Amino acid sequence: MIQPKAYAPFRYMGGKNMLFDYLVPPNEGLPFTFNKYYEPFLGSGAFFFKLVQNDMINERHRIYLNDIRSELIEAFLLIKNYPKSISREMVKLWKTHCQKQFYKIRNILHNQENELNDKQIGLAFMYLQRYSIMGLGNHTVVDSTRIRGGQG
Ligand SMILES: C[S@@+](CC[C@H](N)C(=O)[O-])C[C@H]1O[C@@H](n2cnc3c(N)ncnc32)[C@H](O)[C@@H]1O
Repeated sequence: MIQPKAYAPFRYMGGKNMLFDYLVPPNEGLPFTFNKYYEPFLGSGAFFFKLVQNDMINERHRIYLNDIRSELIEAFLLIKNYPKSISREMVKLWKTHCQKQFYKIRNILHNQENELNDKQIGLAFMYLQRYSIMGLGNHTVVDSTRIRGGQG
């Protein structure tokens, strides 16, 4: 089920949130109709969620979302399949957030031989995105007091 108020769940480099009104002018909408929607480079899904919020994509469409980053896809699957428990787990991580925790989790996630399960990978990815400078992929920490929320 698609929630019409859903929005991009994490900040992400190169997000198209700010470009939406330019790409889809408010009084004009999309210049075509479609039944299937393919997003090969999903990222945070900023553009996709803007279409959802504007009812340009809804239950009537077949939707195919893809990204090469498996940890990003894990994060979306967690949000889709276990929204409540994942939200609780994220709050726990936010409460204990500090630079030391950030780098510890980053080092584990970036270690090719880590033994994390899918859930831990998705959670680690979301946590690092939240506390990275502008959602940069290399996950450089920012002061947790400077960034709160944000999207796209
Ligand atoms: C800038 S983000 C996309 C922004 C997003 N569509 C939006 O609406 O804001 C680009 C994404 O493309 C993904 N990507 C890059 N090369 C890819 C490939 N060959 N196949 C699938 N995804 C790829 C990256 O992992 C990254 O998440």
